[in-house]
Amino acid sequence: MSTKCIAVLTSGGDAPGMNAAVRAVVRSALSFGMRVYGVKRGYNGLLHGDIEEMNMRSVSDIMQHGGTALFTARSPEFNTPEGVQKAAEMCRSKGIDGVVVIGGDGSFRGARDLTDAGVKCIGVPGTIDNDIACTDYTIGYDTALNTAMEMIDRIRDTTESHDRCSVVEVMGRRCGDIALHTGIATGAIATLVPEVSYDFQTDIVDRMKAAQATGKKHFIVVVAEGVGHTQELTERIQKETGIESRATILGHVQRGGSPTLRDRVVASRMGYRAVQLLDEGKGNRVVALKGENIVDFDITEALNMPRTFDEELYRISARLSI
Ligand code: F6P
Repeated sequence: MSTKCIAVLTSGGDAPGMNAAVRAVVRSALSFGMRVYGVKRGYNGLLHGDIEEMNMRSVSDIMQHGGTALFTARSPEFNTPEGVQKAAEMCRSKGIDGVVVIGGDGSFRGARDLTDAGVKCIGVPGTIDNDIACTDYTIGYDTALNTAMEMIDRIRDTTESHDRCSVVEVMGRRCGDIALHTGIATGAIATLVPEVSYDFQTDIVDRMKAAQATGKKHFIVVVAEGVGHTQELTERIQKETGIESRATILGHVQRGGSPTLRDRVVASRMGYRAVQLLDEGKGNRVVALKGENIVDFDITEALNMPRTFDEELYRISARLSI
């Protein structure tokens, strides 16, 4: 049976492009003849009834902004069987029979539990980390990459002026995609990711010395957050190479800013597909981008898929950085 009244929420860490997804969900739902509610602050809002009905104008002028107009939160209370039941009851009391959840893996586990409790949920991948196995792309990733690249370009200017080494930490707790891609795009001498172990001497010091012997005087090392110890690593590089070194942790600057065109378009397509699935009476699905196609998977299957890291690109990156 097709779903008649749905809600949309954003959950977990925010990501640029989430607003385009919310807009797409609201406008698609209205165009399918559904009623649609916006839930504030993720599953917390669902538990506490922080929910308001949306119309065509509720989502005007949000697409170009970073962050999420629905706000977001991580909700320990929802992560209990009682919390899930309470949220399901809140949905029933408002007549909501489907929910679009925009977030990461943790948010999808909540969407699966809520579906089990009788409210059909569809997950839309939104996180800058690009760490969701079932999809080639997560909303926010492109904006974060471009922000990180621009910041590292700026760091390179001063690094070059001072003949220094800059060690730049980018986000990605379990996933090195931001590091790998920004490392290539900024010509890093070394890129460290959680998926691949490294040897300090051969992968950093020897590479820097070999490049120095060809006349290179300044260096960028990109480190994914999940590798950790960025300050210590920087001090060790200075000690072992004699090259003055500085650490920069880019942090949450990568999560903000106006979303790129790619993020807005992918988010719009994913949001539309999520509503289409609910209209077809489906639940417990996650929307994904495979190549250039929007597809969908069972949430449980999606959560069990192994994530792959592009080792070939990692090898290419090492060959080019000299
Ligand atoms: O999942 C996105 C992300 O930005 C990660 O890269 C980072 O590890 C984490 O969120 C930071 O979370 P918080 O904003 O809660 O500190």
